[in-house]
Amino acid sequence: MANIWNAWNREHYLGLVPWCWIELESAEPPGPFPFIGGVDPEVVASLHEAYSLMQSAIDTAISDVFAHRGPLDDPARRARLEDAYAEVVRSRPHLSAHIRCGRKPDGTFQWEYPHDPAKSATMRYGGLRVFNAVVRQAVPFGFDQTPSQTIGKFIGLLDGTHTAGELHASAEASVSAHAGTLTKFLEILNGIQALAASPRSSLHAHWLSATQDRDVIYLGHAALLYRQKDQFFLFDPWLMPWLAESPIPSLWGSLLPRPSAIFLTHDHDDHVDPRTLLTMPKDIPVIVPSRKNRRALYYDYPSILRELGFTRVIELAHGETFPFEGGGIASVPFFGEDPCDIEMPRNCYLVSDRGRNMLAHVDSGPTNAGRSALTEGVIERLVKDYGPIATVFASQQQLKELRTYAAHACLSPPGTWLEAGENGYLTNTYLAELATTAKARLFVSYATGGADWYPDHLSFTFSRRNPARTALLTANWEPPDALKDKLAPAGCGYHYAHALDIFRGTPDGGTTVVSTGETLFPLNLYRLDHGDPPFMKKR
Ligand SMILES: [Fe+2]
Repeated sequence: MANIWNAWNREHYLGLVPWCWIELESAEPPGPFPFIGGVDPEVVASLHEAYSLMQSAIDTAISDVFAHRGPLDDPARRARLEDAYAEVVRSRPHLSAHIRCGRKPDGTFQWEYPHDPAKSATMRYGGLRVFNAVVRQAVPFGFDQTPSQTIGKFIGLLDGTHTAGELHASAEASVSAHAGTLTKFLEILNGIQALAASPRSSLHAHWLSATQDRDVIYLGHAALLYRQKDQFFLFDPWLMPWLAESPIPSLWGSLLPRPSAIFLTHDHDDHVDPRTLLTMPKDIPVIVPSRKNRRALYYDYPSILRELGFTRVIELAHGETFPFEGGGIASVPFFGEDPCDIEMPRNCYLVSDRGRNMLAHVDSGPTNAGRSALTEGVIERLVKDYGPIATVFASQQQLKELRTYAAHACLSPPGTWLEAGENGYLTNTYLAELATTAKARLFVSYATGGADWYPDHLSFTFSRRNPARTALLTANWEPPDALKDKLAPAGCGYHYAHALDIFRGTPDGGTTVVSTGETLFPLNLYRLDHGDPPFMKKR
């Protein structure tokens, strides 16, 4: 049988084409909350089951309110929910083994479940699927005998910066059984036309020539690339493969310069995206929220990142810094976007580089109880310690959600499920105060899409493609644009970010938005080493 490794010139750089992607698949059915930590997964399963058994009754209660049969504010509703929940738990011994609940003689309701800081809902990947959006094919590949770390590491090498010879050597360096798996995997990739070879690997140099030291490059949604001298730091990469959601070539992992480190802010799919992370090199540090900041529950970043193949996970507790020459990146407390008050550790990040500061505030905002980075003096302290924060990147979403619809509802007291909670409720007043306290010169609205290649059906992404949907979604919002007038008195500008905007310092300490024209367009990035994609070439 022909050796697949001989299919390419050993000196040529081999990588995945941006219209192909890989998704890992779990070896066992995942529980309701993969990678949630601080509680035994069996307890979570019981909480989730009790919640599910309540759903039809809750839907009926909601319908009654909309049908004007029940009042919006019904003082008896909470107790009714609690009693119905307790009845469900009492009737099923496997639920009452994990959940202690019931009405006490004094009328108060008890609802408790055991925490266990050492337990988390880890998951193992046992297979993957390779997708090719152009030929519209998906091929499964099982690798039960090979750890997903080995696969993840190998996928990370397929970023077009390694030659076929280097990749071969890397596969051969694995245990022989795993080397065989990697060779088979390569055959699958080749069979679905997912690979492209080139005598050049010029992306990194191109990004360096198109950007300047201390630039912030916006990559869409909440993804930011910070250039520090000749290295790049990547924040919250949620990127799209070409043609995955829209017909436009998008920024994808293999089109970026190699990051020196990745920073993750919080446990939401649009900020921690395994599909994107899989494309990244696995030998770089990934900086994540720390379990030191947990109240009870946490998201187990080290476990998921280890499964993907990363080997250097750094839990950065609030106030700690990831240093680099001339400055560092500080972990800043993240508040809110937490309708059920679960309070898992989350980070915002402050980049402080040779006297110039930038804050990735992401979706942080006031909690249900009104606590925020402002009320807790966090922003004030940052300015005192680091100086004015020239550019503040923050979401302008204004979402409230019935707790029963929130992802983690089952982990919160059942009596509160028909109350609304904030799910990232950033009013213009809050954001103007944030920018003013930060002494910001430019407020950048981001993390609500920001590129035409994102899915257009999510509650937090907006697209020019569907204005009527936006009108429905934002019917009761304060106009986001009106923030401009609230920022002006403080000398702070406003900008709604579009992918590939570059934010650059001005001599007076301000921030200007620069366009690189077409130099960083995804299609042009691909063309650098490969010319036109085959599906665009004339027949
Ligand atoms: Fe979020």
